[in-house]
Amino acid sequence: MKYCFIGIGNMASAIIGGMVKNGFAPKDILCYNRTFKKAAAVAEKLGVTPVETIAEAVAMADAVVVSVTPQSFPQVLPEIKKCLADNQLVISIAAGRDIAYLKETLGQDVPVVRVMPNVNAKVGASTTCFTPSDDVTEGQKNMVREIFGAVGELIELTEDEFTPFKAIAGCGVAFVYMYIDACARAGVKYGLSKEKALAIASSTVMGSAKLVAESGEHPFALIDQVTTPGGTTIEGIMSLQANGFEHAIHEAMRAVIEKDAVLSSK
Ligand SMILES: NC(=O)c1ccc[n+]([C@@H]2O[C@H](COP(=O)([O-])OP(=O)(O)OC[C@H]3O[C@@H](n4cnc5c(N)ncnc54)[C@H](OP(=O)(O)O)[C@@H]3O)[C@@H](O)[C@H]2O)c1
Repeated sequence: MKYCFIGIGNMASAIIGGMVKNGFAPKDILCYNRTFKKAAAVAEKLGVTPVETIAEAVAMADAVVVSVTPQSFPQVLPEIKKCLADNQLVISIAAGRDIAYLKETLGQDVPVVRVMPNVNAKVGASTTCFTPSDDVTEGQKNMVREIFGAVGELIELTEDEFTPFKAIAGCGVAFVYMYIDACARAGVKYGLSKEKALAIASSTVMGSAKLVAESGEHPFALIDQVTTPGGTTIEGIMSLQANGFEHAIHEAMRAVIEKDAVLSSK
C-alpha cells in the first residue's frame, strides 16, 4: 500500500511519525506541503519521500490523507480531484468538513473517510474517531484502522456522534491538561517542586484512566473503593461537589457543542 499526505503540519507529522515507528515502510509514504521545506524536514527525519506537487503525491497513493487546515480545503480538494484515479481513498482529518462536503467537492464516486484524531497523537496516544462514506470497502476501512491505529485508539462513529466526540476527545484534552496543571499548582502550594508535582499529577491521570478503561468498573464504584469512611478523600469529593466540579464540566461541554453548531452553520 502507498499513502500520501497533503499538508505536513503538526498532525500529519505526528501521524507519519507514528506510522514509521509502527513498521510502515517510509518509502511508501509521500508528503506534500505548500511550504516545501516542511515536507523536506519531515522526510529527512523519517525517511519518507517529499514531493513538489499534489499530482506527484496522489499518483501512486492508495490513500490520500488531507491534513491541511479546513480553510485550505476549497483550494486543495479540486486539485486532488483532478489527479484521482478509481479506487483511491480520500481521508480528511479536518475539523468541520463533513462527508457531504467532501463528496460534493471531490465527486460522488470518490470513497471518503472523515477522521478526527487529537493532539495526543504526538505520543502515540490519540483518541481518534472515523466515519466512512457508504461506498468505502472493508479493506479501505482496515487501511484507516492501520494508519490511525499507529497513533492511538480508534473508534468508528456515525457523523452525528462527531460533535460530542469532539467535545470529549478534541477539546477535552485541554480540560485534562487544565486539571493536571491545577493539581500541580496546588502541589507547589503545599511544598512540591512544579516539576515533581506535574509528574505526579500526569501519572495519576494516566493511571486512573487506565484503571477505568481496563477494569470495566464504573468510575463511581472506583470512587467508593478509595473513599474511606471519615477519611480524607470524601472531604475532597464533598468540596469538589460543593464547588460545582461536575456542573463545570457539563457546562464546558455545552459551550463547546453550542459553538460547534454556530461554526458549522457558517
Ligand atoms: N491540531 C489538532 O489538535 C487537530 C486535531 C484534529 C484535527 N486537526 C485537523 O488537522 C488539520 C491540520 O491541523 P494541524 O494542527 O496539523 O495544522 P498545521 O500545523 O497548521 O498544518 C497545516 C499544514 O497544511 C499546510 N497547508 C495549508 N494550506 C495548504 C495548501 N493549500 N496546500 C498544501 N499545504 C497546505 C500548511 O503549510 P504552510 O506551512 O505552507 O502553511 C501546514 O503545514 C486541520 O484540518 C485540523 O482541523 C487538528
